[in-house]
Amino acid sequence: MNSFKEDILSGLRKEQKTLPSRYFYDKKGDALFQQIMHMESYYLPGCEREIIEKQSADIAKILKEHNPHWNIVELGAGDGTKTAVFLKKLDESEVSMRYTALDISPNILKENKANVTAAIPQLEVESVAGNYFETCDEVLKKQSHNLILFLGSTIGNYNKERANEFLQWLYKGMKKNDLILIAFDLKKHPKTILNAYNDKEGITKAFNLNLLTRINRELNAGFDVNAFDHYPYYDPLSGNCLSFLVSLKKQSVTIGNENISFYKNEVIHTEISKKYHLDDIGQLSRENSFEPVKHFIDSKRYYSLSLLRRNG
Ligand code: AVJ
Repeated sequence: MNSFKEDILSGLRKEQKTLPSRYFYDKKGDALFQQIMHMESYYLPGCEREIIEKQSADIAKILKEHNPHWNIVELGAGDGTKTAVFLKKLDESEVSMRYTALDISPNILKENKANVTAAIPQLEVESVAGNYFETCDEVLKKQSHNLILFLGSTIGNYNKERANEFLQWLYKGMKKNDLILIAFDLKKHPKTILNAYNDKEGITKAFNLNLLTRINRELNAGFDVNAFDHYPYYDPLSGNCLSFLVSLKKQSVTIGNENISFYKNEVIHTEISKKYHLDDIGQLSRENSFEPVKHFIDSKRYYSLSLLRRNG
């Protein structure tokens, strides 16, 4: 595992500077992301909630056709509030199950367990703290009929290459009869997408800029955060929604013993939030030896929870 410092430096050394979006989520970043999730223009959580509320019974039906008992394994489980709703629906539809939550944060896992248990008191809940790339294989190995949950459109933060790597990694860890339920944000009117990353209140801007504040704090870098702007951009051809930081002046920072300079209006690429057409999901699946079983889509057709099975 690379350290924060190495990851930041290797991105800033590049000809086209980049910073990894996974570092948005420090304490302040988590709080800003919570605010983003409540923004009117940020439609993603509402769509996901609608699908979970209205279509979990249909998901349950398919699960029960495959097997009566399921081990629900959630990657990046978070506080479990929306998972609790999903599991409760499955329980009401008489899916027999146990639940394993994987998350990097032991604290959030405590909240997760409390929330899930409050919703379904008799459910057996296991919490596994750590990087799920390191813990998942072990969890999947010891049980069969795993349903892997990868919610929140987290896969959107992966470019094509990393999405492929992710699915290949899952394929290797999964058993033959395991399924994945994975959230994709769908292609839609480009303005709707851009607006979700370009709020007038400046919350997304603060979220993006907070990465520089974090680098200042942890690496003593000396970014003039006020001299950076937020620039989101959506390309409907590729489905790539990209976020950049723009240096509003010529400036330089020092990290360790390296000097990094920015020319006026130079951009740092900080995030990709990829949008998919259903055909794109089918293609991505098949390229990586998966097959969509069914796409569960909200009433606006903005978002899909896609159930995938291993192909062979
Ligand atoms: C957490 C990856 C789903 O890309 O939409 C929200 C993060 N970035 N606003 C997304 C995010 C800017 C979000 N995901």
